[in-house]
Amino acid sequence: MLPSAVCESAGANGGTSLNTYLSTEMENHQQHMSDSSYLTTTTDFYERVAESPEIGLCCVGGGQLTFPDLCIPADMEAMSYGCGSSVQPQDLGNARRVLYVGVGGGKEALQFAYFTRRAGAMIAIDPVAPMRVVATRNLATAAAGNAWFDPAFVEVRAGDAFALGVDDASVDIVAQNCLFNIFEPVDLSRALQEARRVLRPGGRLSMSDPIAIEISPRTCAAMRDFARCA
Ligand SMILES: C[S@@+](CC[C@H](N)C(=O)[O-])C[C@H]1O[C@@H](n2cnc3c(N)ncnc32)[C@H](O)[C@@H]1O
Repeated sequence: MLPSAVCESAGANGGTSLNTYLSTEMENHQQHMSDSSYLTTTTDFYERVAESPEIGLCCVGGGQLTFPDLCIPADMEAMSYGCGSSVQPQDLGNARRVLYVGVGGGKEALQFAYFTRRAGAMIAIDPVAPMRVVATRNLATAAAGNAWFDPAFVEVRAGDAFALGVDDASVDIVAQNCLFNIFEPVDLSRALQEARRVLRPGGRLSMSDPIAIEISPRTCAAMRDFARCA
């Protein structure tokens, strides 16, 4: 709806103002559409790679953490779509409840469960249904090879970084690996605010993401334009 100030100003230059207003609105709308559609592209992409795992999908490789008596099933390892590790044992303290955002194949959920080891302590969310199915299957496989592990230690739920689905101030750790780096700044702020909402006072956000340490070269910027137009 046009704000009244725009309608009232329609005089000699009214047509121009209106056109400017409308084209700005249209640009904003298109910008908004393209901003939010990348989130749909993202979930479509992860739906595909849940169904057909791609080894080495993440450009910088997964974390190689090992712990005594922790055995990562091969199918789970093949779906390690993260980089580095958000599982930092020294930061876990007496964490009673961990919320993992973007479960993927379930590897880091299993690694967190190694430390929490009780039902209700570890919630892992993902908006992509096939990803949740595969993670649940991989966790069941993990139970066969890890005597200490019970699949009830990890509750895999539908959820989104922007709507975590748990109460305010109800978890000690929010963790994510290689997801928040996908978000445009406005969505990154939303995701961080949501993480902050659910963290207890003194809680921790554990993130592992690839970052650029230099400004992207011009060729990358050109590729981005190319990708957007194609
Ligand atoms: C790069 S993969 C990382 C998976 C896992 N963290 C790992 O380290 O292997 C990103 C994961 O986030 C999920 N995802 C995509 N969009 C999401 C969103 N808006 N909120 C939460 N998770 C999302 C994807 O389905 C996928 O499982």
